[in-house]
Amino acid sequence: ARKVIVDSDTASDDTIAILLASRLFDLLGVTIVAGNVKYDHQVRNALYTLEYIGKEDVPVYLGQDRPILNKWRTVEEVHGENGMGGWKIPEPKKRPEKEKAVDAIVRLSRENQGELEMLAISPLTNLALAYLREPSIVKWIKKVWIMGGAFTRGNTTPIAEFNFWVDPEAAKIVLDAGFDITIVPWETTEEYGTLDTSHWSRIKSMNTKLSEFFVNVNKTLLEFSMKQGNKGSVHPDSLTTYLAYDSSAILEERKFKVDVELCSISRGAMLVDWYTKGRENASVVLKADSKKFYNELISILSSF
Ligand code: BDR
Repeated sequence: ARKVIVDSDTASDDTIAILLASRLFDLLGVTIVAGNVKYDHQVRNALYTLEYIGKEDVPVYLGQDRPILNKWRTVEEVHGENGMGGWKIPEPKKRPEKEKAVDAIVRLSRENQGELEMLAISPLTNLALAYLREPSIVKWIKKVWIMGGAFTRGNTTPIAEFNFWVDPEAAKIVLDAGFDITIVPWETTEEYGTLDTSHWSRIKSMNTKLSEFFVNVNKTLLEFSMKQGNKGSVHPDSLTTYLAYDSSAILEERKFKVDVELCSISRGAMLVDWYTKGRENASVVLKADSKKFYNELISILSSF
């Protein structure tokens, strides 16, 4: 199986992405970064998720608990107070590793040169700092998958998507570094990664340990997404994980020069150059096969 690290600000949909990654890839570790909810909650959520899904052997590494420069705010309204839809989870027995996330990213990419892929479903702080520590990771890491950025429909400011908005400097560093990058932007995840009420009924009726987990952790996300006008809960991190696994489910992508705005009122916005050729630094997914994504998710949730 392909080797991945999931870089995560673990809350609701991140936990489902961790579940998918643990089933579809050889998951070498989960690194935690500041983002969705309070840092300690995110750590606990990742540890508990791995325990719950029977993957307690996957190491969790503590990363950056704040962005490089930015002042950001957490979004409990999206994921619930603890990031698990308000579901009161017990204290996990599993503990994080002593080695820090940046060191682990550098070490694992050195040890798995040309093989390791990063699944960055979070602000890019950990990856940016790993790159600054050891620029050779650009050569060592095979591929960086990023959930982040929005063309025009920002979900945090009118123009900025949450992950880019939390740490725009980190996004800039990663985009400019020279990695082989595929971006799944917010609009694509809204359009192809939404689970509507019929999916929810189906999942609820499964009554498996994993379907129960899914329903509990994504309760607040469902309410929030519907308030925003979606037909169900939006699953950006899970969709990105699935597309990383199954490239045949990427129906349209295009290479662009992608940048991030750092200075103005639109700070954190993804900037996409549609016309200039020869400076492309990332491929952006425009269309995806949502059926394939749902089917895989449903089949994993029904597995135990
Ligand atoms: C992104 O922000 C987080 O709330 C989600 O987990 C996802 O990574 C969507 O903008």
